[in-house]
Amino acid sequence: MKANVTQVMVDEHQLILRMITLVEHNTALLAAGKFRNWQFYLDAVDFIRNYADRFHHAKEEDVLFAELVKNGMPEKQSPIEAMHMEHDQGRAHVQAMEEAAQKALDGETGQTTVIVEHATGYATLLRGHIDKENDILYPLAERILPESVRNRMLAAYETAGAKNPGLELKYLQMVEAYEQQAK
Ligand SMILES: [Fe+2]
Ligand SMILES: [Fe+2]
Repeated sequence: MKANVTQVMVDEHQLILRMITLVEHNTALLAAGKFRNWQFYLDAVDFIRNYADRFHHAKEEDVLFAELVKNGMPEKQSPIEAMHMEHDQGRAHVQAMEEAAQKALDGETGQTTVIVEHATGYATLLRGHIDKENDILYPLAERILPESVRNRMLAAYETAGAKNPGLELKYLQMVEAYEQQAK
């Protein structure tokens, strides 16, 4: 039985999807004029940058995708290139969402449209992205990666987690707190 090198990523997607559900929920209220908690968007940006991007996407880019390329998957015009591009598109939405939420928090009016556009854009992008990884890229990785690289990959994931003690708990608690408020 080969060691599984993608289940940990599927599990991390679960928490990312819970934050995306919150973004969708609160953004629908924002668009309807019933939500004005700009800090939520700054917290969502913090979650996305530090949990989804630095923690999760870094493992994908530095460990999983890197191993796939070493084991014969092309880097260009390939699923890897598509996933990298979507990570970058996500970063652009997050940057725009942060700027608009910060302006709104500072009292500038007219930021709602920008926040709705980029929050919705990010949520749609990431849902599609996670589906592609869970349903296509990760099963493919499980088929093609040789046994010999798997323990090294699991160790590299551990190192990424060890650099950030408490990070997973912090962001789980953030999601839980906003879920309570959304009830
Ligand atoms: Fe990804
Ligand atoms: Fe992912």
